[in-house]
Amino acid sequence: MKLYLAPMEGITGHVFRTVYHRHYGGADRYFTPFISHRDFTARERADVLPENNRNLELVPQILTNHADEFLEIAHKLKEGYGYEEVDLNLGCPSPTVAPKNRGAGFLRVPDELRVFLDEVFSKSDVRISVKTRTGYEDHEGFERLVELYNDYPLTELIVHPRCREDYYARPVNKEAFSVAYEKSRHALCYNGDVYSAPEAKATLAQFPVEALMCGRGILRDPGLFDRIREGGGDNRKNSGELCCENAPENGKAVNREKQLKAFVRDLYAAYSGELSGEKDVLFKMKELYFYLSESYEKGDKLLKKIRKCQRGSDFLSVLNESGAYGYKY
Ligand SMILES: Cc1cc2nc3c(=O)[nH]c(=O)nc-3n(C[C@H](O)[C@H](O)[C@H](O)COP(=O)(O)O)c2cc1C
Repeated sequence: MKLYLAPMEGITGHVFRTVYHRHYGGADRYFTPFISHRDFTARERADVLPENNRNLELVPQILTNHADEFLEIAHKLKEGYGYEEVDLNLGCPSPTVAPKNRGAGFLRVPDELRVFLDEVFSKSDVRISVKTRTGYEDHEGFERLVELYNDYPLTELIVHPRCREDYYARPVNKEAFSVAYEKSRHALCYNGDVYSAPEAKATLAQFPVEALMCGRGILRDPGLFDRIREGGGDNRKNSGELCCENAPENGKAVNREKQLKAFVRDLYAAYSGELSGEKDVLFKMKELYFYLSESYEKGDKLLKKIRKCQRGSDFLSVLNESGAYGYKY
């Protein structure tokens, strides 16, 4: 079973991915947040540059409902940047995307999706995976979609079992996932609301799939993949020192709180080198702590304190004292 980091626009770009991969066991595969321009924006270009993604397996993700645009972007990714595989986004629920039949919006026009996939698969010179939700308004038509996907040689089918109307907050629908589990002929990846090693274990016991993708779970607790790899044991606080087999210091005892602080410090430094001003770097850290504060017993208090920071130095001193907020692991 493989572990994938979910693409998250604005968060899991190359800076986050590479720093995360250095400090933790990392993911077996990473996916870029979606690319949607024929002429890459500066952000899109920087995100796929091989020199910004050393030592990790990366699949660029494309969002479009125009086959010619998909083919042009995929070809450019192959010829210009060396990518042999891309992922198609059929999950984005955003009001600027889905109502135009892109992302999750493409799922409500399956006949158009078929025409798109016919053209893309007959002309593409790269391998293609699909990351899909299980419907637009509801999950009723998902079986038909799974059958549709069965007609094409996808490398894998990543299923986030929510419909578009569920956005990110309504509960995942495991029954909808079971339709893919029973009917799909493709290698399957489960994605959605896995926040702890026991939850990962239970999900994989119910659906022994080829891969598990986590997004917010890793932002809340960057050590989650290491713990899943250790065997899905529980998440209780450890005594401070333990062995993470796949951690960078292979075989050595790792203090998880120290590891987290070193990761965040490095991430702060990497964003400082990448972004134009301290304010932008602080914005990134505040965005991350919306999730990461969940790693602390008094996470609400820590988040408040982080949100008040006006200077990078304020942030770094809150980070230094963050143990006082009760690190959970
Ligand atoms: C802020 C944010 C940005 C996201 N951006 C993307 C994206 O660019 N492409 C994509 O396929 N999914 C995107 N997603 C969805 C995630 O990849 C994932 O499917 C979803 O968060 C459910 O997984 P999780 O519960 O493990 O986070 C995004 C989610 C969030 C919260």
